[in-house]
Amino acid sequence: MSFMTSANPFSVNNPLVRRVTVDGEPLVEKTIRRNAPVPASYAELKAEMDAYRDQLAAAGVPMPRIADSRVTDDSIVYLCEDGGRNLVERYEEPEALTNGHADVLASAMRILKRAIDAGVAIDPHIKNFVGDGADLAYVDFSPPLTEAYVEARCSVAQDEEQAILRENFAYFTPYFLPYHFAGDFLNIDRAAERLFPALHALLTDAGLLSGTPLAEFVSQAKAIRALEDRRLQERIYLI
Ligand SMILES: Nc1ncnc2c1ncn2[C@@H]1O[C@H](COP(=O)(O)OP(=O)(O)OP(=O)(O)O)[C@@H](O)[C@H]1O
Ligand SMILES: [Mg+2]
Repeated sequence: MSFMTSANPFSVNNPLVRRVTVDGEPLVEKTIRRNAPVPASYAELKAEMDAYRDQLAAAGVPMPRIADSRVTDDSIVYLCEDGGRNLVERYEEPEALTNGHADVLASAMRILKRAIDAGVAIDPHIKNFVGDGADLAYVDFSPPLTEAYVEARCSVAQDEEQAILRENFAYFTPYFLPYHFAGDFLNIDRAAERLFPALHALLTDAGLLSGTPLAEFVSQAKAIRALEDRRLQERIYLI
């Protein structure tokens, strides 16, 4: 097996994701390590990730194929088909999405709707959607957003972490996803609230909102992002 690492690390945010070439095929190698003392072995955590991927697949969420995966002493490694650049990388200004590429956003919303209709939790941040044009796939399966995993993670949370963690995990569940989708734009652009009327309209068109007043939508979206920012600030890890 020839194994070549590309010169540039794929992501500055997460050095544990990198593009590699295996036997001439471009792949994405994800190395997952835990930060929290979840009472499970890496083999058990991987089994939960595989189960979560099965739930997403059964819901009809398109995902890049897994070419290979393994557990090491201190990590889980997945070699995934390269689904292309994510929506944050593709559109430097999020305004380019609401203004001119609404079809791409509508495609991401259709994927979210599949998870919602199936009752599966999902992380709606647009960096988790990759692809070309409006042909998108969803890439994020760590942590596995299953009830079993959430319970295991929360079981080892310190008291002051517990409420923040539970609230943050809840925001990945179907009811909150339309608001969460918009809220995460604030993570890309602090002034993204100006895009919320357009996002509200698109989410309504996509059947993810019906009759939610704009003001309520905006305050929910901001509250969800604020809680996630607080969790990150306090270094409370989901995995
Ligand atoms: N199969 C893939 N094809 C193309 N890009 C991918 C693939 N898997 C992951 N990526 C890229 O790597 C990034 C991080 O991957 P992923 O979402 O799985 O990890 P993460 O732990 O959630 O990281 P983050 O906290 O940055 O979201 C994605 O936003 C995406 O740009
Ligand atoms: Mg991600």
